[in-house]
Amino acid sequence: MVLSRLTLIFILYFLSVSSATNPPPPDAAVCIVGAGIGGSSLAHFLRLYSTPDVDFHIRIFERNGVVGGRTATKIVSVANSVLMVLRYGFSLLKMNTFVQETVGNFLKYYESHESRPIFESVEEMLKWAGLYNLTTTTLGFKLADIGLSPLLINELVTVITRINYGQSVAISGLAGAVSLAGSDEGLWSIEGGNWQMASGLINHSNVALHLHEEIESISFVERYYELNSTKGKSYKCDIAVVATPLDEVKIQFTPQVSIPKRSLQHTYATFIRGLLNPEYFGLDSVSKIPELVGTIEHPDLSFSSISVLKQYDEKDMAYKVFSRKPMSDELLDSIFSLRKETIQINWGAYPHYKAPEVFAPFILDDRHLYYVNAFENAASTMETSAVAAENIARLILSRFFGQPPFSSSRSESNSDEGTLRVD
Ligand SMILES: Cc1cc2nc3c(=O)[nH]c(=O)nc-3n(C[C@H](O)[C@H](O)[C@H](O)COP(=O)(O)OP(=O)(O)OC[C@H]3O[C@@H](n4cnc5c(N)ncnc54)[C@H](O)[C@@H]3O)c2cc1C
Ligand SMILES: *[C@@H]1O[C@H](CO)[C@@H](O)[C@H](O)[C@H]1NC(C)=O
Ligand SMILES: *[C@@H]1O[C@H](CO)[C@@H](O)[C@H](O)[C@H]1NC(C)=O
Ligand SMILES: *[C@@H]1O[C@H](CO)[C@@H](O)[C@H](O)[C@H]1NC(C)=O
Repeated sequence: MVLSRLTLIFILYFLSVSSATNPPPPDAAVCIVGAGIGGSSLAHFLRLYSTPDVDFHIRIFERNGVVGGRTATKIVSVANSVLMVLRYGFSLLKMNTFVQETVGNFLKYYESHESRPIFESVEEMLKWAGLYNLTTTTLGFKLADIGLSPLLINELVTVITRINYGQSVAISGLAGAVSLAGSDEGLWSIEGGNWQMASGLINHSNVALHLHEEIESISFVERYYELNSTKGKSYKCDIAVVATPLDEVKIQFTPQVSIPKRSLQHTYATFIRGLLNPEYFGLDSVSKIPELVGTIEHPDLSFSSISVLKQYDEKDMAYKVFSRKPMSDELLDSIFSLRKETIQINWGAYPHYKAPEVFAPFILDDRHLYYVNAFENAASTMETSAVAAENIARLILSRFFGQPPFSSSRSESNSDEGTLRVD
């Protein structure tokens, strides 16, 4: 009896001494579902912001064989031409001011950590930057309110929102502003494909990447999240992050999580090798058809846009057609005079935006289950995904470790890592 008591005291003494003199380094297993720009940015910012003594084990699960997710290259730059000024007049200037102001507000997310809080919800994040109100009204309403002509709203603006989000000006003012900003000049993409951004971030973040491994369930078991995959494997993680839209994936959560219902806008991308039929466009030769044909909202119009991807020769081109519904062969045969090859892809492309917008939480339970794509109801772009992921990285560091999530030693060295920054 006495002996065992002594032993216990000794053990307690030993434990307290060892933890006082040599505290165990904080460590955490982080599991990220999805290797798109959101998941890869999250890994990057966790590494960038954590102090060197934090020992992260980061796993990223990706159901596909490649990283990058939806990253694709936008096809247009709708430049302001003299013709447009003649047609839309001062309204163009007002539109420009609106877009510049919104972009200016968004740029607040690049302010330093001293002046930029860590946000626990999308609403809070948007309100801080002065962007929240734009999610409560439609783009059409907002633009009319600031005095844009109906002509500009129903033509140019509609064409742009249809190209970028496959939707009308009934999307929220914020998604609309982002869409308009994205049609401006000065947009760039990575030669060889934007997926390389995700790939590069992952390669530099010391991540265990599990390709071809789909996560089927996330369960909170005692102290851990248990992630089970289609490979029949099971992983224990302290922190679990969902970096994909939950609307159309069948991940089973235990306990269940509740998020507001959101539907995705499906965009059909039809790639065609062949030649357009000028007659369909009321023209007498193919060369008169512009490189990009956008469309307005009209029940007879069966596609959102058609653009030239590549010209092999005068009679042999590659095109990309965006539409809300699948394009039938009959329809394609009326639009094209020649079709050598047709490939159709159905994308669950982006949220179906509405106003007022409702947001899912960043924190799905009251512990460490996070949801990057909650931010997608504000807007869906590579940049907004990265900005949302950056906030989640800070949220994790502050909630899990309670540390100020920016180690000063690292912050100094960051400035020369210009090439690694996602802005
Ligand atoms: C046609 C199209 C064109 C676009 N053009 C542009 C553009 O030019 N510029 C721009 O900025 N934005 C553009 N966007 C939007 C942009 O691509 C997305 O906003 C952005 O890529 C979203 O990144 P993400 O990482 O949040 O999600 P995603 O890219 O969707 O990544 C999620 C990843 O998770 C994986 N995944 C899903 N479920 C599971 C599971 N259960 N287990 C494991 N893995 C899973 C998916 O396979 C996917 O790789 C476009 C989108 C589309 C559809
Ligand atoms: C947003 O709208 C509310 C209510 O109409 C208003 O009080 C607030 O000032 C607005 N915020 C901004 C940044 O415009
Ligand atoms: C990342 O690493 C993989 C595997 O080594 C390589 O194939 C890929 O090209 C790398 N990505 C970038 C952007 O360098
Ligand atoms: C996940 O896998 C483990 C180990 O195989 C199993 O015990 C558990 O029940 C699985 N969880 C779910 C939700 O299927």
